[in-house]
Amino acid sequence: MTGTEPLIIGAMVRTLGAYPSGWRYPGAHADPREDAAVLRRIARLAEDADLDYLFFGDWLATGPDLEFRDPYLLARIDPLSAVLALAGVTERIGLIATVNSTYADPYATARATASLDVLTGGRGGINLVTGAEPRAAANHGRDAHADNDTRYDRAEEFVRALRLLWESWDDDAWVADRQAGVLIDADLLRAADLAGSQVRVSGPLNVARPPQGHPPIVHAGTSPRSRALAATEADLALIAAGDPASAAETRRGLRELAAASGRDPDDLKVIVPVLPVVAETEAEARAIVDALLLLVPLDDGRSGNASRPGFPANRSLAAFLDVAGLPVDDPARRAAVDDAVSADAAARFGEAGARVLHAVRTHTGRTVGGAHGVTWRHLIAANAVPANFVVGDPHAIADHFERWRAAGAADGFNVLSAFQPAQFEAFAILAAPELRRRGLLGRTGETLRERLSLGEPRLIHAPTAVDAGRIHYAV
Ligand SMILES: Cc1cc2nc3c(=O)[nH]c(=O)nc-3n(C[C@H](O)[C@H](O)[C@H](O)COP(=O)(O)O)c2cc1C
Repeated sequence: MTGTEPLIIGAMVRTLGAYPSGWRYPGAHADPREDAAVLRRIARLAEDADLDYLFFGDWLATGPDLEFRDPYLLARIDPLSAVLALAGVTERIGLIATVNSTYADPYATARATASLDVLTGGRGGINLVTGAEPRAAANHGRDAHADNDTRYDRAEEFVRALRLLWESWDDDAWVADRQAGVLIDADLLRAADLAGSQVRVSGPLNVARPPQGHPPIVHAGTSPRSRALAATEADLALIAAGDPASAAETRRGLRELAAASGRDPDDLKVIVPVLPVVAETEAEARAIVDALLLLVPLDDGRSGNASRPGFPANRSLAAFLDVAGLPVDDPARRAAVDDAVSADAAARFGEAGARVLHAVRTHTGRTVGGAHGVTWRHLIAANAVPANFVVGDPHAIADHFERWRAAGAADGFNVLSAFQPAQFEAFAILAAPELRRRGLLGRTGETLRERLSLGEPRLIHAPTAVDAGRIHYAV
C-alpha cells in the first residue's frame, strides 16, 4: 500500500441487498427473477464511477433459515454466468467470480476463467473459497462437507492446477502461419501433469492463453490455513474485519506470511468488505438505517417453526437475551436490558451491549431514553450485518475509507449495498466523486492485473512437453 495510490475499490454485488431487510425498503429490488436488469444497472454505474471490479460471491445451497439470516443467499445467479452476462455491457471494469474449490472441477474452472479472460480482453478474476456451508455436500454427491484441513489441501492443489492449466499455451505457441500451413508450435504446448492427493489433471487446457497469463486470484477466509493460502497464492486476500485495528493486525500477519513465503508483501493486497449507507446528508442516511432496522423481519421463535431459527442467531443480542419473550417494539430501558440478561452472560453483555447501543446511536441517532428512543427491535437487529458499517454523507464515507487506510487496515474495499439498486446508485453517484476528488478512487490499467498493480504473474512453467495421445498423469 503506497500512501498516494488510489485504493482498490470493487462492488460486492448482492442483488437482494446486503441488509436482511433491504428487500423490504420502499422501491428496492425484491424479485431475483428480475436480476438481469438490476445487474446491468449496477455494472454500468460501477464502470462509470471508476470502480475496479464487480465481485460476485457464491453459496452452494439454500434453505428457509436464510430468509431471516441472509436473504440474499436464498436465490442468486451463478457468479460465472453473471460476469459473462455483464462482460457484454461493460468495457473496462474487472469481473471477479467466486468458485468453491471444494466442489468445483479444476479443469472446468481453468477453462471457464480463461474463457472469461479471453472474452473480456483481460478483465477476468477468480475468488477461490473452500466454503462454509455443510449443505453444499449433499448437493454435490458427497456424504459430508470436508474438514478444514482437507478443504485447504484440495484448495492448494486446485490453485496449482489452475496456474498450470492457464500456462498450457506459451506466448508464441499459437503460430497461425497461413503460408507455411503451421497453426501451432507443438513444442510450446505444456502439460499440467498434476497428480496430487485430491486434484489430478493432465492438461493442456483447450482454451488459448488468458490475456492476463494468470487472472487475479482472490481468496476469502478466516482460518490459519486460509491465511496461509492467501499469503502464498492470492493476489487479493478478502478478510472479515469489523474495526480498523483488527483488520490492521490481520493485514500485518498476512504480509508477514507472504514475505516468509518469498513474496514481496506489496504483491498481496488486503481487501475488506464495507457497507456504506449513503445519502446527501447524514440525517437522511441515518433515517435509511432507522427504517431498515425497523423493517428487519424477526422470527423470534413465536412462529413455533423450528426450522426457522429466529433472526439473528449470532449477530445480535439474541446471543445474550431471550428475545422470544420481548415486546420488540417497546422502548428498551437500561434496567430492563440488565434484567433480561442471564447471570452467566451478564459480563459479556456489558461490553457487547455497550457496542450495540453505540452502533444504534451512531447509525440512527437514537439513544435510550432520548427524544428518539431505542426499541428492543433496534437492539436485536443492530448487528444484523457483521460488516464494517458506515453511515453518512459522501464526506463521512470518504473519511471512513481514509481512516482505514491510515490505520494500515486495508489496501481496498469490497463495497456492499444495503439494498439495490438505489443504495449502490447513491454510492456511485454521491460518494464515488468525493473518493475520486481525494485520490482514493480511480486506478488505471488496461487489464484487471494492471489496475490492481499486480505485476507479472509468477509462472510455474511446467517443463513437460505434450505427447500426442497422452492420457496418463505424470507424478
Ligand atoms: C469476506 C468474506 C467473504 C466470503 N465470501 C464467501 C462466498 O462468497 N462463498 C463462500 O462459500 N464462502 C465465502 N467466504 C467463506 C470462506 O470461504 C470460509 O469458508 C469461511 O470464512 C470459513 O473460514 P475458513 O475457510 O478459513 O475456515 C467468505 C469469507 C470472507 C471472510
